[in-house]
Amino acid sequence: MEDALFKRRILVAVTGGIAAYKAAELVRLLVKTGGEVRVAMTAGAQKFITPLTLQTLSQHPVATDTFDLQQEATISHIELADWAELFVVAPATANALAQLGQGLANDLFSTIALACRAPQLLAPAMNVNMWQHPATQANLALLVERGAFAVGPEAGDLACGWVGAGRMAEPSAILQACRALLGPRDLDGKKFLITAGPTHEALDPVRFLSNRSSGKMGFALARQALRRGAQVTLIAGPTELFAPGNVERVDVVTAEEMRKNALERAPLADAVIMAAAVGDYRAAKVAPQKIKKSDDRLAIELERNPDILAELGKKDFARRPLLVGFAAETEEVETRAARKLQEKHCDLIVANDVSQTDAGFGVDTNRVLLVDNERTTALPFGSKDEVAGGILDWVAAHLSTRL
Ligand code: CTP
Repeated sequence: MEDALFKRRILVAVTGGIAAYKAAELVRLLVKTGGEVRVAMTAGAQKFITPLTLQTLSQHPVATDTFDLQQEATISHIELADWAELFVVAPATANALAQLGQGLANDLFSTIALACRAPQLLAPAMNVNMWQHPATQANLALLVERGAFAVGPEAGDLACGWVGAGRMAEPSAILQACRALLGPRDLDGKKFLITAGPTHEALDPVRFLSNRSSGKMGFALARQALRRGAQVTLIAGPTELFAPGNVERVDVVTAEEMRKNALERAPLADAVIMAAAVGDYRAAKVAPQKIKKSDDRLAIELERNPDILAELGKKDFARRPLLVGFAAETEEVETRAARKLQEKHCDLIVANDVSQTDAGFGVDTNRVLLVDNERTTALPFGSKDEVAGGILDWVAAHLSTRL
């Protein structure tokens, strides 16, 4: 099969950090897979690696200066921005993220970035303290909200001597992210309803019952569905995560609020993916005032929350959406998932073993089984974005047979 990058036009911007040397390997890999690669470098990047290296590997002149007459005559910075189908910033320094976040156009790189309408993939790399600084985090969050994708950084030994998050993702991981971003737009125009995150059920004005769900899986599904051309509504429980601006986001707190919004919107959807970890129980009576400590023991009576997925499964739709549920299990994963598939009348259960430390709640990676009425398929272990891609492959294949 042809590689997703074959003959695709990829603009790699290299900004000034020590990880710039890894950009050479990235460019080599992109060219090797058949991509057409152009490179732009900041002045800082050229202190770490020469334009000649990247010119040799990309087989094209490297753009370094907005005001260089010869470069501009060959291909102007605006032509370069228009030419790109994908804009990769690797490494993306803290300064580069700040330039992009603020929309500056004070050098060749930031000018191209501002003019470029292609999807943007950022591979941040910097010292751990710079990475963790609220300014850097806010810049990245803003960029993601506007639709940018980020890969890495990874944790490990940093060139500056510190240990922590800040090392650029490996070129092979960036290559994979490029493939995903330039992959098929096979969900064009399809309407997705996705739920994500935990719910909070109040006990009194200051306390609530909840769970460890971070919302990462649901947000990854929303991002990937959007990239493949879907219109996405994301009903999110309380989480700190940012969603791309062109996702319709509905923030909710309780299971009941999630239910109301899901039931209202599901009839319009082609597919409903319930990735949220909905609280099964809520307080039978929410205390109007803060509960004061008294005896050694305190009993709080709980009552069942409605099961949103089961309710959707039973509903009479004019046009039934594909229904995808999740199952978080700690034992007998496949058997229990198959039981949930039947009981909740859904088309697919994505089952994860939450007893493993590298999968399920809170972490960035996942390992899941896809259980449908015909078979069980194990998706390869990977980032939540990669796993989301596998789940959406299943949905895309099943939506196409429904037309
Ligand atoms: N779900 C739901 N409403 C609830 C509880 C769960 O819609 N009140 C959905 C979840 O979004 C998920 C699926 O049901 O897609 C499975 O949730 P799971 O964590 O496996 O829990 P339960 O089905 O409630 O089963 P149990 O806790 O007994 O394992």
